[in-house]
Amino acid sequence: PAFAAIIVAAGKGIRAGQPLPKQFADWRGKPVLRHSVETLLEAGAAPLVIAIPENGEAAAHTALDGLAGYTLVAGGVTRQQSVARALSAIESADTVLIHDAARPDLPPAVIERLLGALETHAGAIPVLPVVDSLAFEEEGMMAGAAPREHLRRVQTPQAFRFAAIRDAHAIWAGEADAGDDAQVLRASGGEIAHVAGDERLAKLTFAEDFMTRLPPLRTGMG
Ligand code: CTP
Ligand code: MG
Repeated sequence: PAFAAIIVAAGKGIRAGQPLPKQFADWRGKPVLRHSVETLLEAGAAPLVIAIPENGEAAAHTALDGLAGYTLVAGGVTRQQSVARALSAIESADTVLIHDAARPDLPPAVIERLLGALETHAGAIPVLPVVDSLAFEEEGMMAGAAPREHLRRVQTPQAFRFAAIRDAHAIWAGEADAGDDAQVLRASGGEIAHVAGDERLAKLTFAEDFMTRLPPLRTGMG
């Protein structure tokens, strides 16, 4: 089915410490951002709106050289503002996927699971279990333990009925920065389904994340 998509790529990538903002840095032979743009275009995303840094147009066009079918918008100071600006650039859509450029390896099967769950829910997110035990820390010391049974690690892309997430973002605007878009929809009462995430969707955050630990998503490419 047709779906709109947003990729937020307007951050500074400070923690990654790469020579370029991390979304434009190299990952497995091509720019980080290019990976998910190619995957979402191949999956049929239309429109595909990418939030980029102020004055980041040249870097984005270089990273996406030869690709067509995307539009660029200037992002905001926070991730949430970048999403809000990208949502404003979409005139109409039934469903929208919102994705972090910082998660380049996006298995198409995750997209299918998310879109499937949207048939019954206003939102859907990919999650993984927590396998480590969890500790509360105070002053460098263990102050208690937390049960992990009901905790999940949440990834992107996150999928939403377009009108629901657009309205939820408008209501949330001005509040504290949201961790992700599912939190924004949840605050407006939207029901969000969990689907299986994928370890390959790991987010590139720190410099060491750029050291490859998992095999490439697609064999024979990049
Ligand atoms: N992002 C964005 N606009 C912002 C901040 C973040 O579009 N104002 C995007 C980033 O480009 C990234 C995603 O949100 O794709 C997740 O954010 P994060 O991993 O924190 O990336 P950065 O903010 O760029 O990194 P850092 O916090 O280390 O500076
Ligand atoms: Mg950040």
